[in-house]
Amino acid sequence: MEILKSGYPASDTSYQDMVDFYTAYFEKESERYIEELKKKSNEYSKLSEAMAYSLSAGGKRIRPMLAYEFCRVCGGNIADATPAALAIEMIHTFSLIHDDLPCMDDDDMRRGKPSCHKAYGEAVALLAGDALTIEAFCVLASSGLSPEKVKRMIQILGECSYKMTGGQVVDIGGDIENTELLLNMYSYKTSQLIIAASLMGCVAAGADEVKQKSVYDYAYSLGLAFQIIDDILDVTSDKETLGKPVGSDEKQNKNTIVTLTGLDNARELAREYTEKAMASLEIFDENQFLKALTNKLLGRKK
Ligand code: IPE
Ligand code: IPE
Ligand code: MG
Ligand code: MG
Ligand code: MG
Repeated sequence: MEILKSGYPASDTSYQDMVDFYTAYFEKESERYIEELKKKSNEYSKLSEAMAYSLSAGGKRIRPMLAYEFCRVCGGNIADATPAALAIEMIHTFSLIHDDLPCMDDDDMRRGKPSCHKAYGEAVALLAGDALTIEAFCVLASSGLSPEKVKRMIQILGECSYKMTGGQVVDIGGDIENTELLLNMYSYKTSQLIIAASLMGCVAAGADEVKQKSVYDYAYSLGLAFQIIDDILDVTSDKETLGKPVGSDEKQNKNTIVTLTGLDNARELAREYTEKAMASLEIFDENQFLKALTNKLLGRKK
């Protein structure tokens, strides 16, 4: 594989090679970060262990991939996107740790392993989520990017994380009775971190407002499609494939897009939002990888 001066693979690299490259690149950066973290948390090693347990448990790494790829299509270097990739996956991991807690979805498995609270107890899991959140902002602040870029990225990550949390509050409140309100909640609980990943990648590359607007629209729609598929998989997949329990939504007596519209309509909606997302990619010249990724996420099995 040819690696360019920007640190990215050449633009004729195949889809699967790009995915493998991004995943390996992220794992390496994340391991490096965890080593640093462990060094500075000797006295409270249980905390950094729990953080590392959930962060390095795998997962699809979709959000880091979006951060890297939007930085690439906006003309940046991959090293500039690394703080964003790491920070967003840390926030996402915190949201998963807390989402699994008994006071929320009460799920015992995540990313193919016992959930953080099953492995470390509820209190440490709660605190690992807290610490991952705080550390995510430290990662941005400690990056070598310009103060303007860091400021904008902190704003984006803070705003989107707050909205994600708000979406989770609406979600656990239950009693969502129609599709419009449900999709609105998805635009908070799921689209927001996808928006943050994508936008921070753009900002890392110094992209203009026009590009940022398209990226926002793309990630908003992709997030809706992503959560619809997540709901579908919760009723159609199995624990081994997903790496997390199925039937979680039904157990919580929650309305999802599947209970409100049925499986076929849910699939159709996911297709519509995927197409909408695709349309927002047209302003980018090298959009082949993003288009392929967006399509694959529609047909994902986990
Ligand atoms: C799960 O996200 C939570 C949702 C927003 C549906 P992912 O499906 O991206 O989870 P990982 O990162 O692959 O574990
Ligand atoms: C979670 O939605 C979205 C988050 C912000 C974590 P779900 O509760 O459906 O996510 P999973 O299915 O547990 O991954
Ligand atoms: Mg949940
Ligand atoms: Mg859940
Ligand atoms: Mg789910």
